Amino acid sequence: MYASIAPMFLKRLECSACGREHEWSRLQNLCGFCHKPLFAIVDLAAASRTLTRETLLAREKSLWRYREVLPLPPDVEPASLGEGGTPLLRARKFADDVDLWIKDESLNPTQSFKARGMSVAVSMAKYLGATKLAVPSAGNAGGALAAYAARAGVEAHVFMPRDTPRANIVECRELGAHVTLIDGLITDCAAEIDRRKAGEGWFDMSTLKEPYRVEGKKTLGYELAEQMNWQHRKSSRARDLPSELPDVILYPAGGGTGLIGMWKAFDEMEALGWIGKNRPRMFAVQAAGCAPIVRAFEAGEKNAAEFQDAHTIASGLRVPKAIGDFLILKILRDSNGGAIAVDDDEMIRVAREVGANEGLFVCPEGAACFAALKSLRSDGKIRSGERVVVFNTGSGIKYLECYEGHSRSGGL
Ligand SMILES: Cc1ncc(COP(=O)(O)O)c(C=O)c1O
Ligand SMILES: [Zn+2]
Repeated sequence: MYASIAPMFLKRLECSACGREHEWSRLQNLCGFCHKPLFAIVDLAAASRTLTRETLLAREKSLWRYREVLPLPPDVEPASLGEGGTPLLRARKFADDVDLWIKDESLNPTQSFKARGMSVAVSMAKYLGATKLAVPSAGNAGGALAAYAARAGVEAHVFMPRDTPRANIVECRELGAHVTLIDGLITDCAAEIDRRKAGEGWFDMSTLKEPYRVEGKKTLGYELAEQMNWQHRKSSRARDLPSELPDVILYPAGGGTGLIGMWKAFDEMEALGWIGKNRPRMFAVQAAGCAPIVRAFEAGEKNAAEFQDAHTIASGLRVPKAIGDFLILKILRDSNGGAIAVDDDEMIRVAREVGANEGLFVCPEGAACFAALKSLRSDGKIRSGERVVVFNTGSGIKYLECYEGHSRSGGL
């Protein structure tokens, strides 16, 4: 299926492992040669003629404000529900000896950061001719696909583990998606889609198995630089200087699209002259019951073996095998960061601490990052006075049974 070629700054797709080029104008999943993720390559020099830090000031709040560095021809309407433009909040009390900021992604449509990836990916999939989209989901990606597919007028087929939080399941159904519950993990859901997609005519929207969810997620990086720059540099002269990124980023990694997307954004912004060479130390936060990246990082491996018997209440982190494992591990090492696991009880405890201190009802994945901050601080891996950004990737409202279950049994 080929689309008409309209002018835009997306030039080609490039394999993140073997570097081979692929055409963007055709629906694509993985690299045709080595079956690794494809990245979108944007003509940044051309994009920068209209996309500048000054022109951004007057643009809409949604992530489509970065239109020139996103795919989709300029005359095509994106599937949008107002995603992106989320607040970067200064923490009040949670940590008193670091300069802590919270990027609150729960304010996205469908209450999680998955909206960013799906807005861009659904827009492109529809533009390139897909009519039936399928995704394996820990919960939040399914809700986001269901919403954006409805908005775009295409079908959504969502495969979730049977024990996914109820809110995610109900949400998908109410948004008109075809929902299948599987007795197993997200990897089993992915295998089921793989088996049936050719026969059913589904386009596979799995994390990193198509090139554009990561493009939506990269706007996390653009927004962070923009918010740090404009919030801390008031004089117009200072605004012309490169933006400062935080010293440390703590991100709850399942498939790792957010980490990978932010890193891509940093490279692009450096090429645009918006930031310098310095990068934040990137930390992947995982659950103790499912920590393939932590294990591989500690063992010095380039790839992460599948994690057996994965279990955690942080359903978004219950990803035993990530296709972008080699990309995540390289980012953690190149940035001088690391990987850290948090157990479920600690997530629940810390979620309440964040709630009471900061006024945010965070998801367990977000709570894991706050818990990780405490242990990295006490290990000296984060130093006093450093500027740290924690991602709260979704809302606690989607996880009522897990929070209620713990208050009843644990007396918290
Ligand atoms: C709330 C939440 N946080 C974090 C993640 C992990 O995101 P990623 O797969 O981009 O690493 C998920 C994935 O489902 C999620 O739902
Ligand atoms: Zn390849």
